[in-house]
Amino acid sequence: MSEQSADDYVPVRLKTLRKGEPVIFSIYILLKQRGKFIHYIREGDEFEAERYDRLKEMKIKQLFISSADEDKYQAYIDKKLDSAINDDKMSTTERAEIITQVTSEAIEHLRVDPTSEKAFAEIDRAGKSMVEVIKKRPEVLKSLFNSENDDDITLTSAINTCTLCIRIGRLLGFDDGLLETMGTGALLRDIAVQSFEEKDKALFTKPYADFTDADWEVYKTHPETSVGMLSKVETENITSMVISIVRNHEEKPNGKGFPTGTNQLTIQDSLVSLVSTYDRNVTCLGMAARDSIIEILRDGAYEKKHVNMLQQVLFSIGAIKN
Ligand SMILES: [Fe+2]
Repeated sequence: MSEQSADDYVPVRLKTLRKGEPVIFSIYILLKQRGKFIHYIREGDEFEAERYDRLKEMKIKQLFISSADEDKYQAYIDKKLDSAINDDKMSTTERAEIITQVTSEAIEHLRVDPTSEKAFAEIDRAGKSMVEVIKKRPEVLKSLFNSENDDDITLTSAINTCTLCIRIGRLLGFDDGLLETMGTGALLRDIAVQSFEEKDKALFTKPYADFTDADWEVYKTHPETSVGMLSKVETENITSMVISIVRNHEEKPNGKGFPTGTNQLTIQDSLVSLVSTYDRNVTCLGMAARDSIIEILRDGAYEKKHVNMLQQVLFSIGAIKN
């Protein structure tokens, strides 16, 4: 194999590939100890179920493609997303799996390179697919929550927040453009987590009650750091409305949020903040869904109508039971 640099390869998630089907691009694995990329499946060959399952057993989540094949891979993903939305024969679980994996991959690509226009386009496509699938296949929402997910918690939280926001936005009669804006903002709100030092990343899963003053000083910078990362690239996919959601996702309508304590929030800013608060409690801190709602109602920071809608959506997917 000729000498190639890591820049010649693009990471792809194992779970975005389908076993038992031919692949339309070559697949490589990375031998970490030797820092070498090894040809694993040739273009046109079937990704045999046995090989796929072996990788899964070995907990290898990431494979690689040649960067020259990126367009082929994106076309493959487009087709999968189209099936997840439009193929009547596909199971709800599979739909949810495809959407979750493609969305997680888009966030990961952006974390690796926040200046990548391609990664922004992937996020945009993920947001649009979320809106489409929730609109056409509302039953998928439940599976999105129950899908097998061994990702880091901040990725899971981004996807949960995005899906809940889109569902509430639908109840409020938002048009597709606004739903996509809100979904994209929810996916990107904590994009800065990757830039935090390892010890500070732990703040994302630490109860506020246990925060020291020093913890707050660090943590309260994350919305603006996320905005800074998103502002590094000029792309039509990131609108000022998306930026506003990211900037304000920890602010509250009663002015008791952070970092600035503003109460000048748009409805979409406010909804993403509400669902972020809810999901931090549940996904990041392990609180029961019902208890998170009770705490939010007791705190009284958000419009009761919106909290009730969130509760209604949680009832509908069985996250809260009577
Ligand atoms: Fe946040």
